[in-house]
Amino acid sequence: MKSVWRDIWKISSANNSKKIFGKHPTQKPEEVVQRAIIASSNINDLVFDPFCGSGTTGVVCKRLNRKFVGIDDNIEYLNIAKKRLTATNNDVKHTSF
Ligand SMILES: C[S@@+](CC[C@H](N)C(=O)[O-])C[C@H]1O[C@@H](n2cnc3c(N)ncnc32)[C@H](O)[C@@H]1O
Repeated sequence: MKSVWRDIWKISSANNSKKIFGKHPTQKPEEVVQRAIIASSNINDLVFDPFCGSGTTGVVCKRLNRKFVGIDDNIEYLNIAKKRLTATNNDVKHTSF
């Protein structure tokens, strides 16, 4: 299996197909956040994102069975985050590469 743990990650930015619940100008690709969460936390850990925007960190946490607390000072972005989280299922099978 090809390793993902390289110094440089080549991952496309989140395109419009990933923004079906609303547009955030700097929404991060889920794959980038997923790698960071897997590398730095365990199942049931609490992950805190104080600038959560459209909730990418929360979406990945839910999928990977991490608890999540997010803050943003923009209510429109928080509403996008809520919709994305509601539409995300837990799926433990993605916890490792
Ligand atoms: C780079 S964006 C985060 C994007 C997020 N990772 C995503 O995938 O959607 C940074 C966020 O920080 C929020 N922000 C900026 N200043 C803030 C503050 N003082 N308190 C809380 N949130 C803030 C902005 O509204 C913006 O959504």
